Amino acid sequence: MVMLRQRGFEIHKSYLDVARQRALIEALRPVLKAAPLFSPSVPGGGQMSVRMTSAGMFGWYSDASGYRYAEVHPKGQAWPKIPDVVLAIWQDLTGVERQPECCLLNYYGEDTQMGLHQDKDEADFSYPVVSISLGDDGLFRMGNQSRGGKTESLWLSSGDVVVMGGEARLTYHGVDRIRFKSSRLLPKGGRINLTLRVVT
Ligand code: SIN
Ligand code: MN
Repeated sequence: MVMLRQRGFEIHKSYLDVARQRALIEALRPVLKAAPLFSPSVPGGGQMSVRMTSAGMFGWYSDASGYRYAEVHPKGQAWPKIPDVVLAIWQDLTGVERQPECCLLNYYGEDTQMGLHQDKDEADFSYPVVSISLGDDGLFRMGNQSRGGKTESLWLSSGDVVVMGGEARLTYHGVDRIRFKSSRLLPKGGRINLTLRVVT
């Protein structure tokens, strides 16, 4: 386990051993059953290549009218609770007094990516965002606090956890591509990223 700091991002390499990664996947199964993955539309038109769902009081949602948090899944049911094994990672790494209100689950299949963006739909940016990588490797790109400028990239592997707080809280970031089937954690391949956020 080693911690790198790049542009304010705290990158905890190999934070979760394989047993903990497997325990997380087990805990996510009922979440995915209760709140199936969907492909959000984006304001400019089109759909994200990544499929997603959420756990917690709020789920992150997007459609033609914009990005926001929603209290229910697009099919109408409440979001499932955030599993305790996920909350434990937040507690461990942030030590903040509040619990995350959203655990966004992004699933990256073959040939998917996430464009550079800021996480800025939350009310209070003094709380960090915690991002957990599971499954295939993903090429994570870190930019600046405004669009443009030089960027730096690094491969995130299964078990890596990134804390985006302080100067990194509003830094542009994205995932250029994944190395499909580089990990055996998910039998069908792909990458799961969980992002934990205080929303209100
Ligand atoms: C995100 O910023 O929403 C996801 C980051 C990642 O997949 O590593
Ligand atoms: Mn993000």
